[in-house]
Amino acid sequence: MSGKGSNLHNLIERGFNVVAVATNRPSCGGAAIARENAIPLGELSQKGFGSSEERDAAMRDFFKAHDVELVVDAGYDRVHTQAFLKAFSGRIVNIHPSLLPEFGGGMDAVEQALASGVEVTGATVHIVTSRLDGGPILVQEAVPILEGDTVETLRERVHDAEYRILPQAIQLMEARLAPGARTEGSPRTRGAASEFVG
Ligand code: GRF
Repeated sequence: MSGKGSNLHNLIERGFNVVAVATNRPSCGGAAIARENAIPLGELSQKGFGSSEERDAAMRDFFKAHDVELVVDAGYDRVHTQAFLKAFSGRIVNIHPSLLPEFGGGMDAVEQALASGVEVTGATVHIVTSRLDGGPILVQEAVPILEGDTVETLRERVHDAEYRILPQAIQLMEARLAPGARTEGSPRTRGAASEFVG
Protein backbone atom coordinates (compact mmCIF):
# COMPACT_ATOMS: atom_id res chain seq x y z
CA MET A 1 0.00 0.00 0.00
CA SER A 2 0.90 3.65 -0.42
CA GLY A 3 -1.66 5.67 1.52
CA LYS A 4 -3.69 6.07 4.65
CA GLY A 5 -4.04 2.35 5.25
CA SER A 6 -7.64 2.28 6.43
CA ASN A 7 -8.27 -0.94 4.50
CA LEU A 8 -5.21 -2.48 6.15
CA HIS A 9 -6.54 -1.35 9.53
CA ASN A 10 -9.93 -2.91 8.74
CA LEU A 11 -8.35 -6.26 7.82
CA ILE A 12 -6.29 -6.29 11.03
CA GLU A 13 -9.39 -5.42 13.11
CA ARG A 14 -11.31 -8.27 11.50
CA GLY A 15 -8.59 -10.74 12.41
CA PHE A 16 -7.09 -11.46 9.00
CA ASN A 17 -3.59 -12.88 9.20
CA VAL A 18 -1.60 -10.04 7.67
CA VAL A 19 1.88 -11.58 7.64
CA ALA A 20 3.72 -8.72 5.91
CA VAL A 21 3.10 -5.23 4.57
CA ALA A 22 5.07 -3.64 1.74
CA THR A 23 4.98 0.03 0.88
CA ASN A 24 6.68 2.31 -1.60
CA ARG A 25 5.97 5.22 0.78
CA PRO A 26 7.51 4.47 4.19
CA SER A 27 6.08 7.65 5.72
CA CYS A 28 2.45 6.89 4.79
CA GLY A 29 -0.28 6.18 7.33
CA GLY A 30 -0.45 2.50 6.40
CA ALA A 31 3.24 2.02 7.18
CA ALA A 32 2.61 3.46 10.66
CA ILE A 33 -0.28 1.01 11.14
CA ALA A 34 1.99 -1.91 10.21
CA ARG A 35 4.63 -0.72 12.69
CA GLU A 36 2.05 -0.23 15.48
CA ASN A 37 0.84 -3.78 14.94
CA ALA A 38 4.37 -5.22 14.74
CA ILE A 39 3.74 -6.54 11.24
CA PRO A 40 6.97 -6.98 9.22
CA LEU A 41 7.20 -3.92 6.96
CA GLY A 42 9.03 -3.83 3.63
CA GLU A 43 10.02 -0.22 3.04
CA LEU A 44 10.60 -0.22 -0.69
CA SER A 45 10.62 3.36 -1.84
CA GLN A 46 11.47 3.71 -5.50
CA LYS A 47 14.45 5.93 -4.81
CA GLY A 48 16.22 3.04 -3.12
CA PHE A 49 16.24 1.07 -6.37
CA GLY A 50 17.61 1.57 -9.86
CA SER A 51 14.42 0.39 -11.57
CA SER A 52 10.88 -0.84 -10.99
CA GLU A 53 12.12 -4.35 -11.81
CA GLU A 54 14.65 -4.21 -8.96
CA ARG A 55 12.08 -2.81 -6.54
CA ASP A 56 9.52 -5.46 -7.44
CA ALA A 57 12.15 -8.21 -7.17
CA ALA A 58 12.85 -7.01 -3.63
CA MET A 59 9.12 -6.98 -2.88
CA ARG A 60 8.73 -10.50 -4.25
CA ASP A 61 11.64 -11.76 -2.12
CA PHE A 62 10.26 -9.99 0.98
CA PHE A 63 6.82 -11.56 0.50
CA LYS A 64 8.23 -15.01 -0.26
CA ALA A 65 10.39 -14.81 2.88
CA HIS A 66 7.18 -14.25 4.88
CA ASP A 67 5.27 -17.05 3.10
CA VAL A 68 2.69 -14.64 1.68
CA GLU A 69 -0.14 -16.60 0.07
CA LEU A 70 -2.23 -13.70 -1.20
CA VAL A 71 -1.10 -10.18 -2.11
CA VAL A 72 -3.67 -7.45 -1.47
CA ASP A 73 -3.16 -4.15 -3.25
CA ALA A 74 -4.96 -1.78 -0.88
CA GLY A 75 -4.27 1.70 -2.15
CA TYR A 76 -1.04 0.81 -3.93
CA ASP A 77 -0.18 3.55 -6.42
CA ARG A 78 2.22 1.59 -8.66
CA VAL A 79 1.76 -1.00 -11.38
CA HIS A 80 3.41 -4.38 -10.73
CA THR A 81 6.11 -5.56 -13.11
CA GLN A 82 5.50 -8.65 -15.23
CA ALA A 83 7.99 -10.64 -13.13
CA PHE A 84 6.09 -9.80 -9.92
CA LEU A 85 2.76 -10.72 -11.53
CA LYS A 86 4.25 -14.02 -12.61
CA ALA A 87 5.65 -14.76 -9.14
CA PHE A 88 2.14 -14.39 -7.61
CA SER A 89 0.03 -15.25 -10.63
CA GLY A 90 -3.67 -15.47 -9.72
CA ARG A 91 -2.80 -14.52 -6.10
CA ILE A 92 -2.98 -10.73 -6.23
CA VAL A 93 -6.19 -8.78 -5.62
CA ASN A 94 -6.75 -5.05 -5.92
CA ILE A 95 -9.40 -2.80 -4.44
CA HIS A 96 -10.58 0.03 -6.65
CA PRO A 97 -13.00 2.82 -5.69
CA SER A 98 -15.45 2.52 -8.58
CA LEU A 99 -17.68 -0.02 -10.27
CA LEU A 100 -15.11 -1.29 -12.76
CA PRO A 101 -14.82 -1.07 -15.71
CA GLU A 102 -16.16 2.44 -15.05
CA PHE A 103 -13.47 4.91 -13.95
CA GLY A 104 -10.59 2.46 -14.03
CA GLY A 105 -6.94 3.20 -14.70
CA GLY A 106 -6.31 6.11 -12.33
CA MET A 107 -6.12 7.18 -8.71
CA ASP A 108 -9.02 9.67 -8.95
CA ALA A 109 -12.00 7.39 -9.56
CA VAL A 110 -14.15 9.05 -6.88
CA GLU A 111 -13.50 12.51 -8.32
CA GLN A 112 -14.23 11.22 -11.83
CA ALA A 113 -17.51 9.60 -10.79
CA LEU A 114 -18.70 12.76 -9.05
CA ALA A 115 -17.72 14.99 -11.97
CA SER A 116 -19.34 12.70 -14.55
CA GLY A 117 -22.86 13.09 -13.17
CA VAL A 118 -23.55 9.35 -12.79
CA GLU A 119 -26.05 8.44 -10.09
CA VAL A 120 -24.27 5.36 -8.83
CA THR A 121 -20.64 4.47 -8.30
CA GLY A 122 -19.12 1.93 -5.92
CA ALA A 123 -16.14 -0.25 -5.18
CA THR A 124 -14.64 -3.33 -6.81
CA VAL A 125 -12.21 -6.05 -5.78
CA HIS A 126 -10.66 -7.89 -8.69
CA ILE A 127 -7.83 -10.28 -9.42
CA VAL A 128 -4.79 -8.45 -10.76
CA THR A 129 -3.58 -9.27 -14.24
CA SER A 130 -1.39 -7.35 -16.65
CA ARG A 131 -4.47 -5.38 -17.77
CA LEU A 132 -4.62 -2.35 -15.46
CA ASP A 133 -7.81 -2.55 -13.34
CA GLY A 134 -9.01 -5.14 -15.85
CA GLY A 135 -8.71 -8.55 -14.18
CA PRO A 136 -11.63 -10.82 -13.20
CA ILE A 137 -14.02 -9.18 -10.76
CA LEU A 138 -14.54 -10.91 -7.39
CA VAL A 139 -16.95 -8.58 -5.56
CA GLN A 140 -18.56 -5.20 -6.22
CA GLU A 141 -20.79 -2.98 -4.13
CA ALA A 142 -22.79 -0.07 -5.51
CA VAL A 143 -22.78 3.30 -3.74
CA PRO A 144 -25.45 5.82 -4.75
CA ILE A 145 -24.26 9.39 -5.32
CA LEU A 146 -26.44 11.71 -3.24
CA GLU A 147 -27.44 15.27 -3.89
CA GLY A 148 -24.91 17.58 -2.28
CA ASP A 149 -22.17 14.92 -2.17
CA THR A 150 -18.61 16.21 -2.14
CA VAL A 151 -15.53 14.16 -2.97
CA GLU A 152 -15.02 13.72 0.79
CA THR A 153 -18.54 12.52 1.64
CA LEU A 154 -18.66 10.21 -1.37
CA ARG A 155 -15.18 8.83 -0.66
CA GLU A 156 -16.24 8.04 2.89
CA ARG A 157 -19.21 5.95 1.73
CA VAL A 158 -17.09 4.24 -0.94
CA HIS A 159 -14.56 3.39 1.78
CA ASP A 160 -17.36 1.93 3.92
CA ALA A 161 -18.26 -0.32 0.98
CA GLU A 162 -14.59 -1.28 0.63
CA TYR A 163 -14.44 -2.35 4.28
CA ARG A 164 -17.26 -4.82 3.52
CA ILE A 165 -16.16 -6.19 0.14
CA LEU A 166 -12.40 -6.58 0.63
CA PRO A 167 -12.86 -9.12 3.46
CA GLN A 168 -15.49 -10.93 1.34
CA ALA A 169 -13.13 -11.09 -1.63
CA ILE A 170 -10.26 -12.39 0.49
CA GLN A 171 -12.53 -15.13 1.82
CA LEU A 172 -13.47 -16.05 -1.75
CA MET A 173 -9.79 -16.25 -2.62
CA GLU A 174 -9.07 -18.36 0.47
CA ALA A 175 -11.68 -20.86 -0.72
CA ARG A 176 -10.35 -20.74 -4.25
CA LEU A 177 -6.71 -21.25 -3.23
CA ALA A 178 -7.36 -23.86 -0.54
CA PRO A 179 -5.69 -27.23 -1.15
CA GLY A 180 -8.17 -29.49 -2.91
CA ALA A 181 -10.33 -26.60 -4.16
CA ARG A 182 -11.98 -27.17 -7.52
CA THR A 183 -9.75 -25.69 -10.20
CA GLU A 184 -11.91 -26.06 -13.27
CA GLY A 185 -14.23 -23.25 -12.14
CA SER A 186 -17.19 -21.71 -13.87
CA PRO A 187 -17.03 -20.82 -17.58
CA ARG A 188 -16.26 -17.24 -16.57
CA THR A 189 -13.44 -18.31 -14.28
CA ARG A 190 -12.02 -20.62 -16.94
CA GLY A 191 -11.89 -17.76 -19.39
CA ALA A 192 -10.29 -15.50 -16.85
CA ALA A 193 -7.56 -18.01 -16.02
CA SER A 194 -5.91 -17.43 -19.37
CA GLU A 195 -5.38 -13.81 -18.38
CA PHE A 196 -3.04 -14.70 -15.54
CA VAL A 197 0.61 -14.17 -16.22
CA GLY A 198 2.70 -17.31 -16.07
C1 GRF B 1 -9.02 2.99 -1.50
O1 GRF B 1 -10.10 3.83 -1.81
C2 GRF B 1 -8.74 2.05 -2.62
O2 GRF B 1 -9.89 1.70 -3.34
C3 GRF B 1 -7.82 2.86 -3.52
O3 GRF B 1 -7.00 3.56 -2.61
C4 GRF B 1 -7.73 3.78 -1.39
C5 GRF B 1 -6.87 3.31 -0.26
O4 GRF B 1 -7.38 3.73 0.97
N1 GRF B 1 -7.12 2.01 -4.44
P1 GRF B 1 -6.68 3.28 2.31
O5 GRF B 1 -5.19 3.62 2.19
O6 GRF B 1 -6.90 1.82 2.52
O7 GRF B 1 -7.32 4.12 3.38
